[in-house]
Order: sequence, then structure tokens, then C-alpha cells
Amino acid sequence: MAKILVTGGAGYIGSITRHFLEKHGHSVIVVDNLSRGHREAVPEPILRVLDTRDTDKVEVLLRDEHVEAVIHFAAYIAVGESTQVPEMYFTNNVSGSLSLFEAMLRADVKRLVFSSTAAAYGIPATVPITEDEPYAPINPYGESKVMVEKILEWLDRYREFRSVRLRYFNACGAEPEADLGEEHDPETHLIPLILRAVQTGKPVTVFGDDYATPDGTCIRDYIHVSDLAEAHIYAVEHLLKGGKSNVFNAGTGVGYSVEEVIAAVEHLTGKQVPRVTGPRREGDPPSLVADSRRLQETLGWRPTRSSIERIVSDAWEFARRHSEPRSQS
Ligand SMILES: NC(=O)c1ccc[n+]([C@@H]2O[C@H](COP(=O)([O-])OP(=O)(O)OC[C@H]3O[C@@H](n4cnc5c(N)ncnc54)[C@H](O)[C@@H]3O)[C@@H](O)[C@H]2O)c1
Repeated sequence: MAKILVTGGAGYIGSITRHFLEKHGHSVIVVDNLSRGHREAVPEPILRVLDTRDTDKVEVLLRDEHVEAVIHFAAYIAVGESTQVPEMYFTNNVSGSLSLFEAMLRADVKRLVFSSTAAAYGIPATVPITEDEPYAPINPYGESKVMVEKILEWLDRYREFRSVRLRYFNACGAEPEADLGEEHDPETHLIPLILRAVQTGKPVTVFGDDYATPDGTCIRDYIHVSDLAEAHIYAVEHLLKGGKSNVFNAGTGVGYSVEEVIAAVEHLTGKQVPRVTGPRREGDPPSLVADSRRLQETLGWRPTRSSIERIVSDAWEFARRHSEPRSQS
């Protein structure tokens, strides 16, 4: 069992991955600057409130804790915000990653799992999308992730720095066993926004209902956050066993439209989802669905909780328990 450092482990996906790492017997240290995460999402003794851009302190921590591998979630994640203040995204997501890699190289820790995104593909030419689709980001957030992916490709080639890049599709749901779930502020993700509309009566906006899809609304690949967390366990264990660098789509291969997600919530809660239809959002592709065969075949991972019914039910249970949003840190 290994000592693993998780950056961004006070955030949504990082906190749930930390829970699964511990369940699998690994020992974890979390680095988070709490700019967007929640202190309560991390057991106090393993939290180090630190910024990934503090190269020297991260290096000392890696050495002192005898870290063997890093899972790197820390980043800003809001596409809209990245178009308003792109420099913030390049500073945090790119410089923050580079600083972490520098600290890792100095401490001789050369195994990393990186949170990438389907936004690396932009508007893909074909769906389902394979990893061979070229990089074509259409916003600064996606570009920041592509820049880090490219840095990792060069580090693999010249520094024996092995990494698994996981390109997530839409992470959603919650982990009931750990009482951890999604609480972004501001929230931009569909499922928590739909659930909030049910709770508050304030309508959720459906952006566009005239796409070339069966019901006119956008189709996305929703992956249960606990399935996604487990993909990280497979990825980090692959690297710890001396496995090669690789890039994988982390999705399920099944797409649901916005209308289908709303219908699943209405079925579960027995309540109508208040909604209004707004204009299409710039850069929203009609359909984004992963071909995830490479992840399944190479690492042996399988999604087991990603039916839309299970996703909305776990998310709803979490939303009901946390109807008052927690403080940001
Ligand atoms: N949520 C999704 O559907 C999704 C999809 C694709 C990719 N991703 C990627 O997954 C990762 C995690 O996403 P999330 O939804 O859990 O986000 P989140 O905002 O909940 O978590 C990110 C965490 O990183 C921390 N952080 C940010 N910058 C930091 C820095 N410089 N130093 C230390 N800590 C810092 C924040 O405080 C927060 O706790 C991100 O890299 C994101 O780009 C998420």
C-alpha cells in the first residue's frame, strides 16, 4: 500500500477519491489551499493547507511524507469564469501544475494521475469520442488542461515522469458512505442545479432546446463520482506497478439529454422541476459521449453506479442532507 498525495482533496472529486484511496488501504495526505474546497471534506490530520504554486513547501512535504505518487485535482473548473478571467486559469491551472511537477522532480516522485477533461476535445467531429480525437479546446479552461497534458507528454519523454491523464466527462452524484458530494460555489453543473430548483422552486435554465438531438436538448455522458474516483485507484496502482503513461477517457459511453435528466429527477422526487428555456450557450456541443473502452480494457475499470437513476438518487440524498450550503473553507 502506498503513500499518496492528493492535491485539491477538499474539493468534490478529490475528497471522494481520498475516501476510496483509504478504503483500498492507501495512506493519503491532502494539499488544498481551500480557495474553493471545504475543510470539513478532509479529516483534519491529513490536511495541509497549501497552494500547489508554493514549490518549495510542496517539495518538503513530498520528502517528509515519503510520498510515492500524486493525484492532481487542484484547479479552477468553471468554463464561464475562464472566459472572463483567462489569466486566472492559466496561472492556477498551468503554473500551479508546473510548480507541482517541479517539486515532484526535485523530490524524485515521478508518478502522477492528472484530472483532465472532455473540454480538451472542444466540439468533437465524431461521437462517441476516442482518445485519438485531436486537442481542440474552445475556452481557456480547456486550453489550460491541454497545456498541462502537453507538459506531461514531454516530461514522460525526457524525465521518466510517468502519468495517467484522465479526461473526465460529467462527474456527478455523491458518495453516501462518506457523506461527500457536490457543493461548488457558484454551482454550474446541471444535476445540483436541477435539485436546487426542486428544493427552492426557483427555475433551472435549460440552455437550448433546438439542438439536433432526439428531444432538442444537449446530451452528455454522466459518470458517477464514485466510479470516477475508482478509476483513479486503478490509474495510480497501474503507475505504482511501473505501468506506462497513458491517456484515458473517463466516461461511461452512455449519453443522457437534459430532458432525460430532468425526467429522472421528477420520477425520483415525485415533483415537477421548475424550468425555463434559455438560449444556447456559446461552445456547447450537442452531444459529448466518451468511448471509454481504452480505460476499461487497459486498466480493467468498469462503471457500476452510473445509471441516471442511481446518480440522481445519490445526489438527491446528499442535497437533502446539505440543503444549507457549507461555507467555502
Ligand atoms: N467536476 C467535473 O465534472 C469535472 C470534469 C472534468 C474535469 N474536472 C477536473 O477535476 C478536478 C476536480 O474538480 P472538482 O469538481 O472536484 O473541483 P473542486 O473545485 O470541487 O475542487 C478543486 C479543489 O482544488 C483546490 N485548489 C484550487 N487551486 C488550488 C491550488 N493552486 N493549490 C491548492 N489547492 C487548490 C480548491 O480549493 C478545491 O478544493 C479539476 O482539476 C477539474 O478541472 C472536473
